[in-house]
Amino acid sequence: MGTALSLPGLESIAVAAVRAGGAVLMDRYEGAMQIEMKGHANLVTEVDLASEEAIVGVLERESPTIPIVAEEGGVRGDSGGGSSRHWLVDPLDGTTNYVHGYPCFGVSVALLEGENVLLGAIYDPYHEELYVASQGAGAKLNGGPIRVSEVDRIEDALLVTGFPYEVGERVRRTLGLMSKFLERAHGVRRDGSAAMDLCHIAAGKLDGFWELGLASWDMAAGSLIVREAGGEVTAPDGGPFELSGEAILATNGKIHDAMAAVIGEAEAERE
Ligand code: IPD
Repeated sequence: MGTALSLPGLESIAVAAVRAGGAVLMDRYEGAMQIEMKGHANLVTEVDLASEEAIVGVLERESPTIPIVAEEGGVRGDSGGGSSRHWLVDPLDGTTNYVHGYPCFGVSVALLEGENVLLGAIYDPYHEELYVASQGAGAKLNGGPIRVSEVDRIEDALLVTGFPYEVGERVRRTLGLMSKFLERAHGVRRDGSAAMDLCHIAAGKLDGFWELGLASWDMAAGSLIVREAGGEVTAPDGGPFELSGEAILATNGKIHDAMAAVIGEAEAERE
């Protein structure tokens, strides 16, 4: 049944799933929370797990033959049945923000065929913003089409990045890049949710985003939403983007080559 569903049908399922996760997040927002540490500054909350249960419940009910890979729960479902499709779920992107009551977090669900993202849905339940894209059908925010910005110089751009949880080499690289962009850009933000950063690029609120050290579920839905909104997504050096590559450069397209060049410069200076 799952593989026979059309892309619009699967998109409705993804939307129902992210809304179910978002409802859990808002029910418990600012409530008492049990916090577990996964690593330095990496918080797993009860609510991550509850949101994941709600999302997985919808996906299993509505598309029982499509396997699910979820951040907190590993692989679920039958990966046989001749389908290379699977759902990729991030039940709460921006956990640290959520735990601290900073309202920048989202729920992300993507449908993949191998590494190819067929559709993506990201829901920001605090601001009630639903971002959706299906391959070839454009990107939408709450049902209306969205488009990346027109800014064509780094000097006029508002950029965003993220810092990895692990301290050490990656932080030094991140800060090296950060200082390069601080010297050039109009501003650089660090908002704490890669999924939301990608949505904000797609909607033209921000112009360029780079981050090292991300997981596939942080990037999958958002990478398609940016592309379908007319933006560009590659590896930070401008090479092909891979979900398993742990790094991303996503822009409005117009400042993409310039950003990749700055990143190349910073990396060369490190060597
Ligand atoms: C994190 C956020 C953050 C990024 C981290 C991610 P999580 O996701 O996307 O912006 O800097 O690398 O792990 O852990 O809150 O789901």
